[in-house]
Amino acid sequence: MATSTPYSHFSLILLSISSCVSGASIHRRLAVPDGYVAAPYYPTPHGGWTADWSESYRKASLLVSNMTLAEKTNITAGTGIYMGRCVGNTGSALRVGFPQMCLQDGPLGIRNSDHNTAFPAGITVGATFDKDLMRRRGEALGEEFRGKGINVYLGPSVGPLGRKPRGGRNWEGFGADPVLQAFGGALTVEGVQSKGVIAAIKHFIANEQEMFRMYNPFQAGISSNLDDRTLHELYLWPFAEGVRSGVGSVMISYNAVNGSACSQNSYLINNVLKDELGFQGFVVSDWLAQISGVSSALAGLDMSMPGDGAVPLFGDSYWMYELSRSVLNGSVPVDRLNDMTTRVLAAWFQMGQDSNYPSPNFDTNTQDETGLLYPGALFSPKGVVNEFVNVQANHADVAKEVARDAITLLKNINNTLPLKLNSTLKVFGTDAEKNSDLNSCSDQGCDKGTLGMGWGSGSARYPYMDSPIDGLKARGANYKFYDTNLFPITDKASPGDVALVFINADSGENYITVEANAGDRNIVGLKAWHNGDDLVKAAAKKYDTVVVIVHTVGPILMEEWIDLPSVKAVLFAHLPGQEAGDSLMQVLYGDVAPSGHLPYTIAKQESDYGESVELVGFQLGQPQDTFSEGLYIDYRHFNKEGITPRFAFGHGLSYTSFSFSNASISSVTPLTAVPPTRPAKGEVPSYSTAIPPASEAYWPEKFDRIWRYLYSWLDKSDADKAAAKANSTDKYPYPEGYSTVQKAGPAAGGAQGGNPALFDTAYTISVTVSNTGKVAGKAVAQLYVQFPTDISIDTPVIQLRDFEKTRELAPGESQVVKMRVTRKDLSVWDTVSQNWIVPNVGGDYGLWIGEASDKLGLRCGTSTGRCADDVKSPV
Ligand SMILES: *[C@@H]1O[C@H](CO)[C@@H](O)[C@H](O)[C@H]1NC(C)=O
Ligand SMILES: *[C@@H]1O[C@H](CO)[C@@H](O)[C@H](O)[C@H]1NC(C)=O
Ligand SMILES: *[C@@H]1O[C@H](CO)[C@@H](O)[C@H](O)[C@H]1NC(C)=O
Ligand SMILES: *[C@@H]1O[C@H](CO)[C@@H](O)[C@H](O)[C@H]1NC(C)=O
Ligand SMILES: *[C@@H]1O[C@H](CO)[C@@H](O)[C@H](O)[C@H]1NC(C)=O
Ligand SMILES: *[C@@H]1O[C@H](CO)[C@@H](O)[C@H](O)[C@H]1NC(C)=O
Ligand SMILES: *[C@@H]1O[C@H](CO)[C@@H](O)[C@H](O)[C@H]1NC(C)=O
Ligand SMILES: *[C@@H]1O[C@H](CO)[C@@H](O)[C@H](O)[C@H]1NC(C)=O
Repeated sequence: MATSTPYSHFSLILLSISSCVSGASIHRRLAVPDGYVAAPYYPTPHGGWTADWSESYRKASLLVSNMTLAEKTNITAGTGIYMGRCVGNTGSALRVGFPQMCLQDGPLGIRNSDHNTAFPAGITVGATFDKDLMRRRGEALGEEFRGKGINVYLGPSVGPLGRKPRGGRNWEGFGADPVLQAFGGALTVEGVQSKGVIAAIKHFIANEQEMFRMYNPFQAGISSNLDDRTLHELYLWPFAEGVRSGVGSVMISYNAVNGSACSQNSYLINNVLKDELGFQGFVVSDWLAQISGVSSALAGLDMSMPGDGAVPLFGDSYWMYELSRSVLNGSVPVDRLNDMTTRVLAAWFQMGQDSNYPSPNFDTNTQDETGLLYPGALFSPKGVVNEFVNVQANHADVAKEVARDAITLLKNINNTLPLKLNSTLKVFGTDAEKNSDLNSCSDQGCDKGTLGMGWGSGSARYPYMDSPIDGLKARGANYKFYDTNLFPITDKASPGDVALVFINADSGENYITVEANAGDRNIVGLKAWHNGDDLVKAAAKKYDTVVVIVHTVGPILMEEWIDLPSVKAVLFAHLPGQEAGDSLMQVLYGDVAPSGHLPYTIAKQESDYGESVELVGFQLGQPQDTFSEGLYIDYRHFNKEGITPRFAFGHGLSYTSFSFSNASISSVTPLTAVPPTRPAKGEVPSYSTAIPPASEAYWPEKFDRIWRYLYSWLDKSDADKAAAKANSTDKYPYPEGYSTVQKAGPAAGGAQGGNPALFDTAYTISVTVSNTGKVAGKAVAQLYVQFPTDISIDTPVIQLRDFEKTRELAPGESQVVKMRVTRKDLSVWDTVSQNWIVPNVGGDYGLWIGEASDKLGLRCGTSTGRCADDVKSPV
């Protein structure tokens, strides 16, 4: 989602134009490269065919069959930007008991609210590698969104996947691997929805950079051009798991895929999402991502947000009254409108929002108690808009646990950490202390003080910030703080002093530019911000013991200092949200051992990530971003090319050591080359397909309109004129491949997430993890699959498939950890048969277990059924 404070959308458009100018050099006009095609797929599959949603569809259909045209078109779009208390507000159908729905950002907490928790960001959650924490953070988020009366949580973000290390919004998701994203996303969906809140997993799909993402009157949004196998094996994977978890909504991204805007890409929505993945909820546009009325409806979009047309705030819409018109004139089949409406209502019933669901009690547009009810209307009644409901409960606890267990120890020479309480500390860097005016930058659009989150719609206001300096104070540490990023000349080092140097790296969403970075790290690159490298180097010159603490949205380059003899320890604290202080102290002082692991690879130089994942600069026409590396991003790329990273994906040290032993593998469901036949679709609601009388869309008499508010009614003459068209010879120019005949669905489908047989457990692996060191700690067992080497299909050397974090193990203590691989985990997407196939059923898959992608000591073989610890790892 994009918009911030009222009336900022013009600056949003201007910004995207000016970021063109400041972008890279001007290239020749580029078209979608040969071979990348956006094929048609019509019609939109009806929702309701899976058993787990049938009761909600039954309830929804009872309402839909009684709704008028104007009621149906009222609940499938927003009432306009800034036309209500939430960032998105649908129309209502009060006659049948359906209220307006409130949609609100964002992934890490309630955006633009009060008395809420600022949770750690997705990337931090990914770094915990802890499934239980992923789920519990989701539950806490769900409680807060429900408590504020929000129907739809605009999260989790699993796209961007993290293909581009400079990408501005990678930090909102869980890391640069589809399986890590999948667990993070699905467990967040389950947690949030367990509290009755609809989750909207986003951004569908291949939304890998911020610059040029949006369509505007002068330029088409960037086109991500990727092949079918890459789509399935990387970018779609976490969405499939989110759908499998029953997600109620999917948000469509701004960009195009293969030249066709995602908001009206029938292949992606109708085929991939709704037929193959069996998605039963509603598809919502990203804010102002919709660029057409009839086309987007036919392509499978179900809800337009915030409802406005090409130029927001003028009362124009692609849907609302235009959708009423499109149905009356016969261009959008009644059948499609009924399906859209049923999907919205079914999601609402599915989460139980039809009983005792609170109404919004906060306002995203103002922090004042009273304000305009419709700020977008210019002339608006005023009223109480903020009721200051405190929804924080004890959520600070889980927030702190996530922040703490994400902290990733990258280097620790001679047990420099943990610190002793009597150590004399010198603290450098403005990142150590919070910005004294904590929420002064709208949507956190600045890098001042401790970096707890990136900027943009995925931010939240801090209720407070427990900073590292607060943490040191609370511990009674012996420290002196230099609140500067320039090394102080006055500083005097005494022998034994420890220098703690705080540096950071920020990024965010494209509508805000921070220190010249237009969302992506397009200017600063992967370097630490505010001359962080120089600060570390200066401290390393004076002090024998330097500990570097990094708050960051993603990888940074550290070659200038990582090998300096006095840089003894490095901690990545990621983006901890409000709980930056004590979470860090618990690790620094050894109350707990660090247990985070890197959710991405840290390279020695940026070019090591590969050329094709660089940011795309300005191009005349539609910017083209071709994913020519295919499956080879992040560690898949490093391993293929044999490039040694500075720190590998999954790396993370502890204060203790662990051994992995006594592994065993058992076969559960025998593999077959092709999965068993999918189940057929179940029954879906059926309705009359006759075009309703035009009178169902007439304005009611004496209705008191709010100026520029979006309504679904038409003037009588307009409605009649549209209805007359339905019988004229004037027909809508339907796209190539258009059809209204429902399909049986692809072989790879059959249930939410795809053919249920894909998720059959093929093998379980158990391994004993023992604490072989001197202090307590938690280990992460990571399981990577290596495809049989004798197959003709190119596959990455290793791919993460499962992981499990142990409980805190005392020295000498062990825990048996169980992991599993599914049929899908051992399959490749076959573009010809359009199915997941096991390339060699009897082949010897290597299931590698260890504590990092480059530290895999155990191998279990599927054909031998044995596990061994004396095999050389492939990485
Ligand atoms: C994009 O084009 C490629 C190459 O033809 C094709 O494999 C893929 O399925 C297309 N993807 C979409 C979403 O249309
Ligand atoms: C809805 O139900 C009421 C009461 O049964 C009926 O009077 C009305 O005509 C129905 N409306 C529609 C649009 O079906
Ligand atoms: C559409 O929603 C608005 C806002 O809740 C409401 O004022 C209007 O009456 C609704 N229209 C219909 C047809 O129910
Ligand atoms: C029906 O109305 C829609 C919305 O205004 C318009 O885009 C479409 O072209 C119309 N269809 C015909 C056949 O005129
Ligand atoms: C670690 O400690 C040992 C023993 O005190 C010392 O010999 C060695 O030089 C230290 N290593 C580093 C890298 O400081
Ligand atoms: C700090 O305390 C430790 C014991 O915890 C002791 O060995 C060490 O000498 C003390 N250092 C200083 C500088 O007082
Ligand atoms: C080895 O693992 C098996 C379970 O796979 C367990 O029953 C057994 O106790 C373990 N042995 C040791 C020595 O940990
Ligand atoms: C269009 O034609 C159908 C029958 O073909 C008729 O029932 C309907 O009333 C006509 N609509 C208008 C607006 O003339």
